[in-house]
Amino acid sequence: MTSEASIQTLHRLQGASIQEQVEIAINDLLGSFPDPGKLSADKRRGIIARYTAVLEGNFIYWMTATYLSVASEEARAKIIENLREEIRDCHPGMLRRFAMAAHAVPTEADALAVYRDLTNVRLFVGQLSAVPIVLMMAFFEGFIQKFMAYLAELAAAQGSAEMEYTDVHGVCDITHTQELFRALAAEMELNPLQPAANLFEGVDLLRALMQTVVVGKGAKTDSGVYTRLAAR
Ligand SMILES: [Fe+2]
Repeated sequence: MTSEASIQTLHRLQGASIQEQVEIAINDLLGSFPDPGKLSADKRRGIIARYTAVLEGNFIYWMTATYLSVASEEARAKIIENLREEIRDCHPGMLRRFAMAAHAVPTEADALAVYRDLTNVRLFVGQLSAVPIVLMMAFFEGFIQKFMAYLAELAAAQGSAEMEYTDVHGVCDITHTQELFRALAAEMELNPLQPAANLFEGVDLLRALMQTVVVGKGAKTDSGVYTRLAAR
């Protein structure tokens, strides 16, 4: 028989190895991006515009979906703290100012370029499946934080000095990340995944979307790579 304590330890260990996998996924994604110093003005504008088209209207929506999905107090408290900051400090407005100052306000073509991958993430989020969605948001937050230096470099090359968005989101908050993964572990205990369920579905979909944001429509992605990694 397995004791309650060892089951909990197992889940914590599981949480730790998942965190490593998420970090690998983030670093792999960032490593696949082109050198920002070698991009044309048109390519720089496109990246900022597509990023804005995705984040401005969806981040709070997806964080809200995460809140609706979870059952643990740890996860709820962490998400509410995030939502409060997003709304109180008006992060969508901050991002819009960032895009305007870099002459990269999203156009119809930018919205169309991300449409398919964005829809895939929206449909996934709509399943309100707690553990995969918390994992996707952990991946998203970690990615955003590391991506800010890249985004700021693009904006500066566009002649912009408006960096509030990238400054606020580029801070490496280790405590925050740890809390997020503790919330994930709490959620996994309350809400164990079915054996056939795919823990990394959201991570893979969001990764494909971010690749389209940076590389543009028709980005070649191996969309199932983290699903397979998790299955090993
Ligand atoms: Fe934000």
